[in-house]
Amino acid sequence: MDYEKQYHEYLARVDRALEAACNTYLPEESEVCRAARYSLMSGGKRIRAVLVLSVCDMLHGNAEAAEQFAAAVEMLHCYSLIHDDLPCMDNDDLRRGKPSCHKAFGEATAMLAGDVLLTEAFNAIAHAPASAEIRVRAAQALGIGAGSHGMVYGQELDLKYEALAATEEQLRLIHRHKTGALINAAIQMGAAAAQATEQQSKELEDYAYGIGLVFQIVDDVLDVVGSQEQLGKPIGSDSENGKTTFVTLFGTDGAMELAKKLNNETCVSLHREFGEKSAFLVELARELLVRRS
Ligand code: IPE
Ligand code: IPE
Ligand code: MG
Ligand code: MG
Ligand code: MG
Repeated sequence: MDYEKQYHEYLARVDRALEAACNTYLPEESEVCRAARYSLMSGGKRIRAVLVLSVCDMLHGNAEAAEQFAAAVEMLHCYSLIHDDLPCMDNDDLRRGKPSCHKAFGEATAMLAGDVLLTEAFNAIAHAPASAEIRVRAAQALGIGAGSHGMVYGQELDLKYEALAATEEQLRLIHRHKTGALINAAIQMGAAAAQATEQQSKELEDYAYGIGLVFQIVDDVLDVVGSQEQLGKPIGSDSENGKTTFVTLFGTDGAMELAKKLNNETCVSLHREFGEKSAFLVELARELLVRRS
């Protein structure tokens, strides 16, 4: 397997799916939709979308449905970033190397741009070219990962612990919800497109939460040691907002050691379950660990 080549093939399919979603769900005449497009089409690593496609591929599923699910999860993720950057949340002025949505369009429009991306993400799933069973399964996965049992609850905890010192256990709970849950949603949407068995979904869930935790630990480390140029977002945001992170608890080296250990455990179990077919997902996990952006 040529990881780079495969990743770029997935990215090209994601870009096409996102273009199509913009044309269908974000009409140009609306200022709110222009703000949503501005944020959605301004780059980003597209990890969640690539996870949808690669999981579906690994299980030989419906690729066209997966493309639409991939667009949907990126729309939802982008909404979470627009709201996350608002002054009432992390108050960050830069995202993906450009002024954040509220800096470019004003707070009210940015809030509505988030709302429209959230809403139209579910619309996109409802209209995917797949059986009703697959579409419902994907919508459920995204609902669980994004809502009161997932990302929104994680953001609630994240804000709550700005004023309190979090223990490692509490921090894991925050990260599991604010980051892991949406990564799992992406993976389960790929599994839905392939009508994965319960056993396969469960194994994939362990992988999702494993890489989700590693991903957020690395995000916390990069907030300290990264550069604004590479990350495209301000560094030092967490400490400015008084957040406890894995860096606060263990230092940057300690946090990276832990991330490495968790990553190894996660990849070993995935490989045990899916064998060589999991090579892309294993490599993706390794890339997320050493990423600089
Ligand atoms: C940023 O996500 C928010 C976190 C959960 C840490 P990404 O690092 O995936 O952001 P983009 O999509 O690549 O910009
Ligand atoms: C974001 O976590 C999680 C979301 C649900 C958006 P962060 O607040 O750490 O993400 P960045 O660092 O702003 O991208
Ligand atoms: Mg935040
Ligand atoms: Mg933030
Ligand atoms: Mg961060």
